[in-house]
Amino acid sequence: MTATPKDRIIVVPDSRGLALEGARLFECIAMESVERSGRFTVALSGGNTPRPMNRLLGAEPFRSSVPWAHTRIFWVDERLVPPEDPASNFGAAQADFLESLPIPRGHIHPMCSEKPPPQAADDYQRELMNQFNSAASGPPAFDLVVLGIGADGHTASIFPGDGTAVETDRWVAAVKGGSPNVARLTLTQAVLNQARHVLFLVSGRQKAAIVRTILTDAACCLPARQIAAAGGPVVWMLDQEAAHLLPTAGTGSSP
Ligand code: 6PG
Repeated sequence: MTATPKDRIIVVPDSRGLALEGARLFECIAMESVERSGRFTVALSGGNTPRPMNRLLGAEPFRSSVPWAHTRIFWVDERLVPPEDPASNFGAAQADFLESLPIPRGHIHPMCSEKPPPQAADDYQRELMNQFNSAASGPPAFDLVVLGIGADGHTASIFPGDGTAVETDRWVAAVKGGSPNVARLTLTQAVLNQARHVLFLVSGRQKAAIVRTILTDAACCLPARQIAAAGGPVVWMLDQEAAHLLPTAGTGSSP
């Protein structure tokens, strides 16, 4: 496997294992972050892959073991639909775990999905500045960013060929695309690449080809390959279906 030193690849047997190992890593980083700084800041992705992990995080033992009272929840991206819309990343996360957890409501920071996109992007950038006291010190550094990957190599709502969200000066961009093909907000690379920990969760045979491209093609410049973690290797947590085209796929140990 020719993954770069900036990647740490963990292969688990199936989607259930992915949810469990992802939840364990989430818990570990949360506890380390609270120990380190008194709080844990995490940016969640939408899509289907993280939902089983999120549901596990909302139940025991993670309901008791994760320091939720010191956790601040943000989003990597959002579709600009009402929270009750099934496509809403915030709405899905609320239903899957957040609404049942002891997180102070003021510690949950959804992207506003009901304003004109440019204004919603400005609002979220201001929210980040306030929450990270980073008006002058540059992009916020999340303790953890949880990412997915599309079969086209997109991540967050940074789509191939769309330069909007790879800008270095904006932290939040208004874009359009993906499935559903709607107006979206996304954190840009400038923010994502400041994260101390980056966890890609990838599941299913339909992602195997893009996983092989991203992790073995040194010339790959798709959005998901442009993500790095400031605090160490990017963690690629894959189930065996998603990993099966990698040269030496195997079942990795828990992180
Ligand atoms: C979004 C996500 C997006 C997602 C990938 C993978 O809001 O659409 O943030 O980047 O992570 O499209 O989606 P699945 O997990 O559903 O395959």
